[in-house]
Amino acid sequence: MAESSRITIIVLLSLIVIVTVLLWFNAVLVPYVKVFFCPCNKTRDSSAQQVYRVSGNLEQHEVYEAEIVETVYIVNDIKLEGIEQNRTHQRPKNNQQCTKVRNEDRFDCDPEGAITQTNCEKRGCCWKPVLRLTVNQSAGIVPPLNVPWCYYPSNYEGYKVNKVYNTKLGLNADLIRTTQSPYPEAINDLTVEIRYETQSRLRIKIFDPATVRYEVPLNTPDVSQAVNDTLFTVSLSKPTERFSVSVIRKDNAVVLINTTGASPLTFCNQFIELSSFLPSSFIYGLGEHRGPLLHNVNWTRYTMWNKDNPPHEKANLYGSHPFYLVMENDGKSHGVFLLNSNAMDVILQPSPAITWRTIGGIIDLYVFMGPTPGEVIQQYTEVIGHSFMPPYWSLGFHLCRWGYKTANETLAIVEKNRQAGIPQDVQWNDIDYMDSKKDFTYSTEFGDMPAMVNTLHNKGMHYIMIVDPGISNEFPGNYGPYDLGIKMDIFIKDSQGKPLIGKVWPGDVVFPDFTNNRTFDYWTQLVKSFHDKVQFDGMWIDMNEISNFVAGSINSCPKNSIEDPPYVPDVAGGSLRFSTICATSQQNLSISYNVHNLYGLTETEATYMALKTVRNKRPFIISRSTYAGQGYYGGHWSGDNFATFHDMAMSIPELLNFNMFGISMIGADICGFQLDTTEDLCQRWYQLGAFYPFSRSHNSVGLKPQDPASFSQDLIESTKTAYMIRYSLLPYLYTLFHKSHMMGETVARPLFFEFPQDKNTYSIDSQFLWGSSLMISPALAKGTTSIGAYFPSGVWYDWYTGGAIHSNGSVVKLEAPANKINLHVRGGSIITLQDPELTTTLSRKNKFSLVVSLDDDGTAEGDLFWDDGDTIDTHTMGKFNMIRFHSSKNIVTNNVMYAGYTDEPMLLRSIVVFGVLQKPSTVKFNGMAISQFTYDDKLHVLKAQGIAANLLKTFTLQWV
Ligand code: NOJ
Repeated sequence: MAESSRITIIVLLSLIVIVTVLLWFNAVLVPYVKVFFCPCNKTRDSSAQQVYRVSGNLEQHEVYEAEIVETVYIVNDIKLEGIEQNRTHQRPKNNQQCTKVRNEDRFDCDPEGAITQTNCEKRGCCWKPVLRLTVNQSAGIVPPLNVPWCYYPSNYEGYKVNKVYNTKLGLNADLIRTTQSPYPEAINDLTVEIRYETQSRLRIKIFDPATVRYEVPLNTPDVSQAVNDTLFTVSLSKPTERFSVSVIRKDNAVVLINTTGASPLTFCNQFIELSSFLPSSFIYGLGEHRGPLLHNVNWTRYTMWNKDNPPHEKANLYGSHPFYLVMENDGKSHGVFLLNSNAMDVILQPSPAITWRTIGGIIDLYVFMGPTPGEVIQQYTEVIGHSFMPPYWSLGFHLCRWGYKTANETLAIVEKNRQAGIPQDVQWNDIDYMDSKKDFTYSTEFGDMPAMVNTLHNKGMHYIMIVDPGISNEFPGNYGPYDLGIKMDIFIKDSQGKPLIGKVWPGDVVFPDFTNNRTFDYWTQLVKSFHDKVQFDGMWIDMNEISNFVAGSINSCPKNSIEDPPYVPDVAGGSLRFSTICATSQQNLSISYNVHNLYGLTETEATYMALKTVRNKRPFIISRSTYAGQGYYGGHWSGDNFATFHDMAMSIPELLNFNMFGISMIGADICGFQLDTTEDLCQRWYQLGAFYPFSRSHNSVGLKPQDPASFSQDLIESTKTAYMIRYSLLPYLYTLFHKSHMMGETVARPLFFEFPQDKNTYSIDSQFLWGSSLMISPALAKGTTSIGAYFPSGVWYDWYTGGAIHSNGSVVKLEAPANKINLHVRGGSIITLQDPELTTTLSRKNKFSLVVSLDDDGTAEGDLFWDDGDTIDTHTMGKFNMIRFHSSKNIVTNNVMYAGYTDEPMLLRSIVVFGVLQKPSTVKFNGMAISQFTYDDKLHVLKAQGIAANLLKTFTLQWV
């Protein structure tokens, strides 16, 4: 017999033996199967083995429902030393307090995920494994994530209310702890402060009245008196009852926050937990995370601990935004912001309910009543700060890559794209320009960097370079930024009080402490002395999570409960110091344990102040790491994405989320940062990227070029078309940024923001809107030639033809050839355009035109904000123009609301009206019949051209 046949027989015989054993196992051992895993994906504790009855047939199905044979509650009183002696863990009074809790309402009593039944019951909690077992050939039986086996019984107390009393700001309650807490250093007495701050804003603070704890020093509005006519009521449990709080919308009695029956309030030094039921499962926000816009409440965890982590699902990424927005079932919405910067897990479960679980600080919860989603964001950004006002040039196209080797190569790429007709406003350099990767230096290869920047300026373009926070300590006495920092004593200290040393691109580095006021001065000096050499226009601040190539520091970190807290949220790498600095490192404000998540924000603030001082123009900063309030100083890009269709699609929820977080200037690396891109992907990505508020192409070192001109003529043409559209729309986009800056409106927004009554829009994240008027429906999959786009109820006009789509809220099939992105203008809107050019420096000098998209009732409106595009605070100084446009009864007119900027003429050259149903016989401008008009009687589009009008004077266009 041949060797191969012998092997086949042996394999077959082995298989038969395995199958027989499995059958025997099924027949004899089932219903008892040993499960070796704890119910979450964390540390597995083999002592947690239990015997369960399993129903189902092991061989016929892959998935089994398992349930424990019987639940026995053996609750042992445990005695602890010190203050715990007088408290015992609470017992479930009877089985019912465990059994009546539905699976979806189980609040985790074992978040660290390694508990045994005995220890669970010692905590006074219920133990009942109910799980889906997935038979996985290699891993054995795998339990799913997060249906807790150990959960709180419904009567678990935690804290009781001792006293409730009115205050100037609202209502206070004093709480006393009545049961033992699963974590050390539980705080016995707490104060709950309810502040009725505005009609639509409530603040709930829970803190230790006896000891000052760390609080995030965000500059939030100061309120001295409670407001009476609020949109909400608050209900607190009465004295002697278990603490609970609920927030109710007055007009429809919907309960927005309800902690009754959720897990008990827990407040230990390093473990604070508050859970609440949600009024619906439509929940958004909780960044920075990769995933669909609409969250899945089926046991999902959002961990916040800023981390240099390429965007991928189920991981803590570069920023932290503990804010959510909920669409209630009747189309109203509210938002909640937990002002806390410690590492935290936020858990969503199917009840639906949310659990905030943070390892420090206090509970400082803001509730925003909306009721529209747009109003929720306005109310949120009133607290954290509206988005900064960007310079006009920053709305143009930005080109970057890691790997331009010289200044000349950088300029050559700019020229190549210019020759190809691609509009571009800003050129960037990555760390390549630095001398040995040291901040505020440039290498001999970039010896002509100052000249390069001047050349760009002469082309009407702008320049931005990267700056990292790590300052090399390897050349003491020879490297100004280090020497000055030591002299000014502004570097972050280790636990011994010495500058903490990490490792980043230049080798060993120390990090400026931006929570120290002196560092603002330090940073301004560095920015100034570099700017004296190289006239850059904005800054790209990277690696500021802080990213560190060693864990903690080159000298490791101390061993204590700050470094290794009793509960560690689900942070990538498993420890707080993983790929960042020690949690014990000291900043002026506090230890990193508390302020880690604020590093990007504080660096952005210092950079903003420095740029403002040095350039005396609007600062433009893009930061990788962010926290709530970032938008006030700068923008963000979504980091090291991959050149895949999936990453491209995911960039839409990313930009919509960041708009909800008050960061309007947001985009993703167009064509992808990691992996070589492909032409078909990049062609689609440039079309989509042309509609990112922040539109930049960037890729990693060693990969093939992906600037538009390095591809085929076909890609160049479609990219040119998309960017020409962007550039013509910039007056509209700029007005949106102005509204974001003044009023906290979003620039890019999800469809449901405009159509909150239409539930079909709640999960849409493959399309988005610019403001209220322009819908962008990109092709996101490989090989697509048509897409199904959702059209909310109303009339929509094709951007390219003016053809109308009348929708009752349905999906419409649209042709999506490789060279086109679908764009639709919403009926009822007037959009201001300007003829595009290769730079905004040129395009903003061109004449304006209007696109009037009539609603079904023949009306439309829009507005335009205009100023010089770069001076700081033009609005406050009155150096701006604000014009409103209206259309009704066949007349388009303007209303000059404010005319304070007259340095440049604002001339109108054409008006296009979509939706003119009857052919006009006469078209008049300012009462005079004009001859230069066309009417398309199939598409119902009227075009009035050859108009010479000043937008700052009242005009009328009439058709009869
Ligand atoms: C990481 C940034 O995310 C990336 O954009 C940049 O190119 C590299 N650092 C190098 O500076």
